[in-house]
Amino acid sequence: MNDTMKAVLLREFGGPDVLRYEEAPTPIPQRNEVLVRVHAASLNPPDLYLRDGYRALPPAWRPDARFPLILGTDVSGEVIAVGDSASRFSVGDEVYSMVRFPEDVMTGSGAYAQFVRVHEDELAFKPQGIDHVQAAGAPMSLLTAWQFLIDPGHDAPNPFQAFRHAPVPLKGKTVLVNGAGGGVGHLALQVAKWQGARVIAVASGKHENLLRELGADAFIDYTKTAADAAATDVDLVIDAVGGENMERFLRVIKPGGALFLVNPLGFCGHEEAAHRTVTVSSTQVRSNGTQLAEAGRLLDDGTLRVVIDSTFALAQAADAHHRASQGGIQGKIVLIA
Ligand SMILES: NC(=O)c1ccc[n+]([C@@H]2O[C@H](COP(=O)([O-])OP(=O)(O)OC[C@H]3O[C@@H](n4cnc5c(N)ncnc54)[C@H](OP(=O)(O)O)[C@@H]3O)[C@@H](O)[C@H]2O)c1
Repeated sequence: MNDTMKAVLLREFGGPDVLRYEEAPTPIPQRNEVLVRVHAASLNPPDLYLRDGYRALPPAWRPDARFPLILGTDVSGEVIAVGDSASRFSVGDEVYSMVRFPEDVMTGSGAYAQFVRVHEDELAFKPQGIDHVQAAGAPMSLLTAWQFLIDPGHDAPNPFQAFRHAPVPLKGKTVLVNGAGGGVGHLALQVAKWQGARVIAVASGKHENLLRELGADAFIDYTKTAADAAATDVDLVIDAVGGENMERFLRVIKPGGALFLVNPLGFCGHEEAAHRTVTVSSTQVRSNGTQLAEAGRLLDDGTLRVVIDSTFALAQAADAHHRASQGGIQGKIVLIA
């Protein structure tokens, strides 16, 4: 194997055009790691935040610049080398992963490249029923839906709250998914349906046909009708958007119900939630190969479908980031290496 590879390098923080397709050293797998030849890598919001130097955070929380760095957590590809102590995967295996998240959230996990090193605990076999593009689209969005709705999967300290996030039973319940057309939202919708919930999808109108196909029982176009005016008696709201006025969802939730905030920064309705006896909870997604294997069975048999918004060649990563900045994403944006 060559000592160098092609990768998308970040040499300074900024807009999409700071992403450069250049030569970089090929990573060397450590003892419990494997080296994966990347076939496809998907975009996630943390890639955009890091590219931009986490400008939305207070200056003291922003990353120290250690350039060049390589963005990207989500990959699908093939094992081409195995570290001394790695025993669960072999050369030639087709695998997918969310790489070193949140450990490398400030330095880049290195997936926008021809090769990436991955700890074997963070890997699972790629579901055979889907291709590398779909598999690369799954990891962060699917693990987020899974860790919010099925099993947190870890006991690491929760950066958003003092207590451990706890999923709630979904069978026979009404679940409202806000941001249902996006990466997390379209998979959360399908996971809730698989669990036996009735699902109300909230998204802009262009997503309605797709979301009904994926199982939505009702659809609210938030550009025409406010979700909190159109829904009532909901057991659980999972808000996969965040931003201003997340408190509005408290009004649609039954007493004893729950509000799960995928992006909780700025929520200020804790007092009202306590008054309404609504549990408000969040968690931070973490890499987990075991859960990718478990959820992968549902990708394999078609219970869950990864929707692809668009694909770009790895060398066109800047164009992919421009697409992501336009918003209105339907499913996932994927880079093909
Ligand atoms: N807690 C965690 O560990 C964790 C993990 C993953 C993601 N996140 C966060 O969760 C959020 C979603 O991530 P993602 O990967 O799903 O992003 P995404 O793929 O960009 O999806 C966002 C979706 O929200 C929709 N949207 C935008 N404004 C909306 C509004 N006002 N009401 C309803 N829908 C709206 C967009 O489409 P339309 O405008 O066309 O409807 C888009 O489909 C991000 O803030 C991300 O940082 C957190």
